[in-house]
Amino acid sequence: MKSHYCGEITSSNLKEEVTICGWIHRRRDHGGVIFLDVRDIKGICQAVVNPDNDESFKSAESIRNEYVVKIKGIVRKRLEGTINKNMHTGEIEIEVKDLIILSKANTPVFPIDEYQEVNEDVRLKNRVLDLRRPEMNERIITRSKITSLIRNYLHKNDFHEIETPILTKATPEGARDYILPSRVQPGSFYALPQSPQLFKQLLMIGGLDKYYQIARCFRDEDLRADRQPEFTQIDIEASFIDEDEIMKISEKMIKDIINEFCGDKLEKFEIINWHDAMRDYGCDKPDLRIPLKLVDISELVKDEEFKVFSEPAQKKESRVVALKVPKGNSLSRGQIDDYTKFVSKLGAKGLAYIKINDVNDLENGIQSPILKFLKPETVTNIIRSLDIKTDDLIFFGAGSESVVNSSMSSLIKKLGEDLDLYLTKWAPCWIVDFPMFETSKEGNLTPLHHPFTLPKCSAKELEDNPKDSIAHAYDVVLNGYEIGGGSLRIYDNAMQKIIFNVLNISKEDAESKFGFLLKALSSGCPPHGGIAFGLDRIVMLVTDTTNIRDVIAFPKTQSAACLLTDAPSKVEKDQLDELKIISTHKEE
Ligand code: AMO
Ligand code: AMP
Repeated sequence: MKSHYCGEITSSNLKEEVTICGWIHRRRDHGGVIFLDVRDIKGICQAVVNPDNDESFKSAESIRNEYVVKIKGIVRKRLEGTINKNMHTGEIEIEVKDLIILSKANTPVFPIDEYQEVNEDVRLKNRVLDLRRPEMNERIITRSKITSLIRNYLHKNDFHEIETPILTKATPEGARDYILPSRVQPGSFYALPQSPQLFKQLLMIGGLDKYYQIARCFRDEDLRADRQPEFTQIDIEASFIDEDEIMKISEKMIKDIINEFCGDKLEKFEIINWHDAMRDYGCDKPDLRIPLKLVDISELVKDEEFKVFSEPAQKKESRVVALKVPKGNSLSRGQIDDYTKFVSKLGAKGLAYIKINDVNDLENGIQSPILKFLKPETVTNIIRSLDIKTDDLIFFGAGSESVVNSSMSSLIKKLGEDLDLYLTKWAPCWIVDFPMFETSKEGNLTPLHHPFTLPKCSAKELEDNPKDSIAHAYDVVLNGYEIGGGSLRIYDNAMQKIIFNVLNISKEDAESKFGFLLKALSSGCPPHGGIAFGLDRIVMLVTDTTNIRDVIAFPKTQSAACLLTDAPSKVEKDQLDELKIISTHKEE
């Protein structure tokens, strides 16, 4: 239908007859001549329609933005003074011989020919228009190029792309399952995979050695800016492999992506022990571009009369931390109040602070609402232990470990952003030595990764002291985003049964839910391990957005809805009857 992409015609095509197809980006009527900017995936090209070309001119007069056209014409040099050096096609224009309107368009809900902030719901409802915006178009294409690089990289390293089922059984990754009723077996349900975890392990037991898949995963969980209910993993598994080898293959892949798409060379990936990460950053996905760390001062304040500090300092699973903000003295009262509100939304009861006006005069040179509650020597000790300088500020967090960690780690990220504290463009790291289990709110042990992760200790040690057992697990974190996580897997039936036992999964339950795995583990299982990367998050980082919906062509909202198609939606009663399903939901 066309001979060239609009965006690719240059002076090298001068005098050639070309045919282009695309959207009318803009139409300008210069009284007598009509200029049409025609846009396609590769860019924009200017076409000129003269009035002596009667038929084409009539069409051009009726044309509006976003009409789809086909244009045949001759490439010619633009007149001196009309050359646009910023455009790839800016030296030429097409003298129109033949103009056909292929399809008309209603006036777009928002303009495509200029950038305009548009409410996200409006964008999602009108996604086809939104996808035409250059920044969206580029993101989706970059995503495709990234998957292509990944495929090439993994194939070169002997990985095979293998699909695993979507209609399947629950694959526990810690979220709720999406379930799907079976018509032919009424009363039975499939679950959509939270990840291909069990299948990739079965593929290893099946002797396929190295597997990968660009895999769609489904998780019914609370959504955030970097989470979607359906998202894509680069899912990897290999046999006869150790942690170091998996980390090496993964690092090279991430380095290649950042090099290819951002032109940057990633430095060494720091390796941080999980406990150290929690102690120093309050989270297991620290943004190492920001040079701020928490310092535990529980020991220094445990005997103070100020109960806000001394109580958590003495209690188990509580802590008191100090956070030095270099030059933070310039923060106004209003800003500090805003940060206090910010942490209180995350459960913190307050945000004490000390401003250091003069570090050499601790009697008169410091300022804080809590000075009256603390012994002067305690304040001196805190200031010394933090290596404080004049004009620094110290924030304090005190309370339960979980609240202090989540609020203060978020505060670090917020301060980093607000005060632009970033030291580097990229800061990758591995978090290793995760605990095998965490304790849920109800007091039960739950796996920190998933129940198929190999412990670093013996079966006996694990049974005796599950809370202290460490996993062969690792996460990759880039600029504060967990972009991937994986582990070595249990390859022994007995160990897998012990884990189920520790997790309080009865023998019957283990058999009915994971019998196929237990059987496979007894059929000659190679030691194996793997990792899965969040493709969406990688694309977010590469294309410099903090909104995961910007890198997915048809994403869901925070309430897991697709505004374009209006899914999820009601189904006909007949359909429910066929599935033997009765809805007990009452409309409000
Ligand atoms: P995990 O649950 O850590 O591990 O997931 C791997 C990576 O997937 C991404 N991710 C998400 N991205 C967008 N929206 C979500 N809701 C979402 N949830 C997870 C993250 C995360 O690091 N089977 C294991 C992997 C393994 O052990 O090999 C798994 O799924 O970037
Ligand atoms: P209060 O005695 O509650 O007025 O608190 C005195 C100071 O301590 C205020 O600056 C509070 O912001 C701060 N504060 C109170 N609770 C906490 C807490 N859990 N962590 C950190 N600072 C706190």
